[in-house]
Amino acid sequence: MTEISVSAPGKIILHGEHSVVHGKKAIACAIESRVFVRATTSNSNDGVISVLMSSLHDKQITVQINEFCFFCDKLKDEENPGIEIEKYCAETLSEHADEFMRLAMSCLLYAYYKVFLCSDPITAPHVSLIIESQLPIGAGLGSSAAYNTSVACILLLLSGRISTQSSDSFIELKNENSLNKINELAYEMEKIVHKTPSGIDNSIATYGGAVLFEKGILTKLENMPKLQLLIVDSQVQRNTKTLVSNVEEFLNKFPDIVNPILDAMHGITLKSEILLKNIHANPLNHELLNDLGKLIITNQCLLCGIGVGHPTLDKICLIAKKFGFPAKLTGAGGGGCAIILLHTSSGLLDSNVESMVKVLTDENFICKKAMLGAGGIMTKYTHR
Ligand code: PMV
Repeated sequence: MTEISVSAPGKIILHGEHSVVHGKKAIACAIESRVFVRATTSNSNDGVISVLMSSLHDKQITVQINEFCFFCDKLKDEENPGIEIEKYCAETLSEHADEFMRLAMSCLLYAYYKVFLCSDPITAPHVSLIIESQLPIGAGLGSSAAYNTSVACILLLLSGRISTQSSDSFIELKNENSLNKINELAYEMEKIVHKTPSGIDNSIATYGGAVLFEKGILTKLENMPKLQLLIVDSQVQRNTKTLVSNVEEFLNKFPDIVNPILDAMHGITLKSEILLKNIHANPLNHELLNDLGKLIITNQCLLCGIGVGHPTLDKICLIAKKFGFPAKLTGAGGGGCAIILLHTSSGLLDSNVESMVKVLTDENFICKKAMLGAGGIMTKYTHR
């Protein structure tokens, strides 16, 4: 029996959310909270593709492989098979499957189609996936990208199109060629979830670390200082696809106003990249940390300016300000998570951090400390 487990990290965007969709630069960093996907294949082939979300009360959905293969025969001349597969899921999955589960299955089936059925078909195996997530869903921490990247990796491993070392514990996948294949497939899956994603989420989930990202091109930030952040989940639900298309609508209506805001966000990303390098070389220089904090506060104002703020996020930023810490939303905004830089002009103040966490927790926000730059895709592969 072969057992494959894959894990991919969540992320925070330090600067560049939304502007990155319009060709500007963004800085993103992997965080230690991760998604874990376990696949089992055994000789008892039951002819199904199934997903079980163990962190969502064991919700499960199943599709019969032969029925899906029959449907896929019709996809040969389709320009956009992802849309057709989404429709297939909407029409055929049980009414008990909620939208989230349907989306998870649509992404899995799309990847399954691309890997096993599309060009150069190979024997389609049954696939049972068990998902465990340490990331809140739809909160801006890249949960869908961590899921899609892990699923892409599992299917590519099962098909033999990529390989990994056999290991009883998780090891980071380092082969560039394999990582590129995973990232490419995960990006196509992300389009099902987010319509026009920039690709930043799947890239950081695949490669990990800290990256500068622009128009699909990723540059690793090697000189990343050990910054501490507090990630605060506002617990306000929102939808990235809607927020991205709202910004696009706003941009199309008022290009003279919105373009300069996007340019200013780009400027903040560029300046922050330099500051991060300088902080790495001079970690005790409070002026540099202070400047980084000022840019975080400015970007939060700009993000509100393009309409992706939320009163709950304002409240989190205000609490952070009272304790002397800079804060901004991260990801698509409209709710989701905020990040607070745990460095003040006078350095890191532990007692202040704990007092602030208490105030935020009393307001029912969920707080998690994070060190930036976690590892990318990891695999655990055993064959007994
Ligand atoms: O889905 P989120 O909340 O992680 O947001 C992703 C960042 C955006 O720039 C808003 C969208 C994108 O595709 O880059």
